[in-house]
Amino acid sequence: MYQPTSIASAHPSVIENPKITVVGTGYLGATHAVCMALLGYDVIALDVDQAKIDHLAAGNLPIFEPGLEDKLREVLAAGKLRFTTDVKLAAGHGDVHFICVGTPQAKGSDAADLTYVDAAVTALARELHRKCLIVGKSTVPIGTAARLTALVHATAPAGSLVELAWNPEFLREGFAVMDTLEPDRLVFGTASAWARAQLAACYTSIIAAGTPVVSTDLATAELVKVAANSFLATKISYINAMAEVCEATGADVSHLADALSYDNRIGGRFLKPGLGFGGGCLPKDIRAFAHRAQTLGVGQAVAFLRQVDGINRRRRQRTVDLVTELAGGDLLGVKVACLGAAFKPNSDDIRDAPALDVARMLHEAGALVTVYDPEAMTNARRSYPDLSYAGSLEEAVTGAGVVAVLTEWDLFRAADPYHLATLVDSRCIVDGRHALDAERYRAAGWDYRALGRPSHTGTVTFLDFENNGLQAQNAG
Ligand code: UGA
Repeated sequence: MYQPTSIASAHPSVIENPKITVVGTGYLGATHAVCMALLGYDVIALDVDQAKIDHLAAGNLPIFEPGLEDKLREVLAAGKLRFTTDVKLAAGHGDVHFICVGTPQAKGSDAADLTYVDAAVTALARELHRKCLIVGKSTVPIGTAARLTALVHATAPAGSLVELAWNPEFLREGFAVMDTLEPDRLVFGTASAWARAQLAACYTSIIAAGTPVVSTDLATAELVKVAANSFLATKISYINAMAEVCEATGADVSHLADALSYDNRIGGRFLKPGLGFGGGCLPKDIRAFAHRAQTLGVGQAVAFLRQVDGINRRRRQRTVDLVTELAGGDLLGVKVACLGAAFKPNSDDIRDAPALDVARMLHEAGALVTVYDPEAMTNARRSYPDLSYAGSLEEAVTGAGVVAVLTEWDLFRAADPYHLATLVDSRCIVDGRHALDAERYRAAGWDYRALGRPSHTGTVTFLDFENNGLQAQNAG
């Protein structure tokens, strides 16, 4: 672990209060720029998208992230953060340049698309005329930092005076500010003691607060991020695989998850069964990791990630199957209320959103789908113009033959099953996120179904080993 001794005395050329540039103003970049400014650094954020820069400079956040817009306005008013599209200005400003551009899944491949990272680093490097540090925060395949180091040394007028470090980000959407200012750990992948000390100078107060710092080489730092996301995805798919087994046996995955969670070695976080993971990170990161491992000749080591992905995708189809079952076996012309569009609550992000994938499949099967989400409506409408959208929860469920809860917003958890019962055509509900109180719904006359849970309390299905099949028996 890195010990925060006196940085300046150990490394005379370290700037203790570095000026900071953040390249890329998406989720990661906007949050990082605002948080660095909140920590007191003088920050310039750079993007190629003029409209986005104008929006941010006016104090408007293009994404929904609780608390971030207020903080943006605070640092703008304090003069701590400026936005620009001028690479020369940003390059001249920063003693430390954070690269925060996106690394989406490449079209037609599982690999990560590094076009934006390469373009950002190349454009920046061309304007670097003095000693400084470039720090990658984007999630990249192992080996990218080593390749970029060579690129920077060849491209920057300052040559090898410009060093490169990797400092992965672990923030969750919905908790971005908290995760950035109070991270569980900091990971510093560096190639020199100077780079390590200069990077530490960007997190002085966070380190002083006792945050663990893992100091390592570039490749390990890159790997930490994909390994962490792969572990989280695996944990979710593990419990969802257990849900599949529960469905075949009449066992209840929610009780199973509960019982497992009391084992401290397992823990209950990311063990929530349901529709599975989505978003701009977990799905593409496990695919890119499996792809990269293959090219490194160690594909077998992480071959299980293909299974993790497969289990996750099957949950979406299983949700559609449950809705179909409740609709009496045929979705044609059945009105289905899809509650939720975002990939998770407290976000308007619909990238690889399980909710919208399910809505799409229901629509393609002939259902009359109406979607409602408290924050993601604009994004959903833009990407799925064929679906119908409602202005409220009540409007969405009115006249519905089946209600499907696909994102666990508090608004949906808090809804009164007795009130909803007066609005729907048929009291049938699929709880895709294990978010609702099953007993309350059943008491209000609903046919309540959830992935991995038996359809009726009191009925337990025992395995009939002799006949090698399933036999439902009444528990009473
Ligand atoms: C994830 C990681 O949690 C962050 O640490 C990481 O920094 C980020 O990716 C990234 O790579 O940038 P995020 O995509 O914001 O963060 O979302 P999560 O909170 O991890 O949720 C991912 C998905 O898993 C959601 O669709 C959520 O509904 C689902 N999930 C989560 C479950 O299905 N079950 C659970 O128990 C937990």
